[in-house]
Amino acid sequence: MKTILIIGAMEEEIRPFVEAGSFEKKEASPFSYHIGEQGGCRLIITVSKIGKVAMASCVQSFITMVKSDPEFSGHTIDLIINMGVAGAIASDLNQGDIVVGDKLCQHDMDVAGLGYEAGLNPDYPSVYFETPATVVDLVKKAYGELETDYSLKVGTIASGDQFISSKEKKDFIESTFQAYACEMEGGALAQVCSDNQVPFLVIRAISDKADGEAPLSYADFKEQAIVNLTALVERFISLY
Ligand code: ADE
Repeated sequence: MKTILIIGAMEEEIRPFVEAGSFEKKEASPFSYHIGEQGGCRLIITVSKIGKVAMASCVQSFITMVKSDPEFSGHTIDLIINMGVAGAIASDLNQGDIVVGDKLCQHDMDVAGLGYEAGLNPDYPSVYFETPATVVDLVKKAYGELETDYSLKVGTIASGDQFISSKEKKDFIESTFQAYACEMEGGALAQVCSDNQVPFLVIRAISDKADGEAPLSYADFKEQAIVNLTALVERFISLY
């Protein structure tokens, strides 16, 4: 049986998922998690807290725990999914649409002072970390099986420790990274997954347009967006 780790940065990003299933709650300080079976997979569901540092710490903690804790003996994590909300960068995205990251980057990684291109961490060969095409294709298949009133888009997701709410920052992220959407954790998850050779999927519902209106529209759209996202991730898992 495959083991999938599902991480939300905020509790409300995974709550509908946890409430719809039957999971046991466990502690692994400083994290707690829910564990159970769904769609033929073993699921571990947890909350990282907001930002890249929190996400990196969470991902590495769970990868190490599953490798070393006797409770998981013989198991490894087959896939890590980060689900939650994101701000739209591309103009063809609307609130409620869902973006699958085929590539992840960190828009606030800046070693230009030493001559490196924007977003490049000199310890890595590329600005971008990639999700396997097979995983992206399976999300498309799951989407095709659902009746939806939102669009699914595939593109680059750019992460940084900033809530994007100005046109200047939004334009910078679009022109520098050709990003579709922005959020605050996926790029960190991608980097740690790459270090550990674990495939990942970052899938996010658009909650706001990452412009001056962001703080207001964010709250309005978050809840419904997460309900739609949860249904899509559940269907994806049943196909995985
Ligand atoms: N998550 C949701 N909306 C966001 C935004 N505008 N910036 C960063 N992260 C987000």
